[in-house]
Amino acid sequence: MKKLAVVALMAVAGSVAADGATRDVTELYNRACMACHASGAAGAPITHNAEAWAPRLTKGMDVLVNSAKNGLNAMPPRAMCMDCTDAEYKALIEFMSK
Ligand code: HEC
Repeated sequence: MKKLAVVALMAVAGSVAADGATRDVTELYNRACMACHASGAAGAPITHNAEAWAPRLTKGMDVLVNSAKNGLNAMPPRAMCMDCTDAEYKALIEFMSK
């Protein structure tokens, strides 16, 4: 029993450390990107639709991060995540594109 509690504590500590670097991608996605990218509203490439993302990915990750930061056509600047970092945009794009 005691051993189990230690293992559980370690698991909690591990996830806190990981969150220190970047926040939870799913949480950020649900908050900011899902509104458009889940349905493909206004021509947004649909989440987890690799085919829809393939032509975007050929632009390169830096260009895609910049599109999210500066906005692109119907996508507003910052892509509705006012405090996302470059690393978080990158993680979100990786999450959405596969
Ligand atoms: C208000 C709707 C909306 C929201 C919210 C939104 N997007 Fe988009 N996104 C779009 C639309 C529309 C496009 C397609 C733009 C085009 O090519 O005309 C797009 C395209 C993109 C692209 C491809 C850009 C390119 O250069 O081809 C990326 C990357 C992207 N979105 C990331 C994100 C991320 C990350 C979030 C959340 C932080 C997000 N988007 C939130 C509407 C949205």
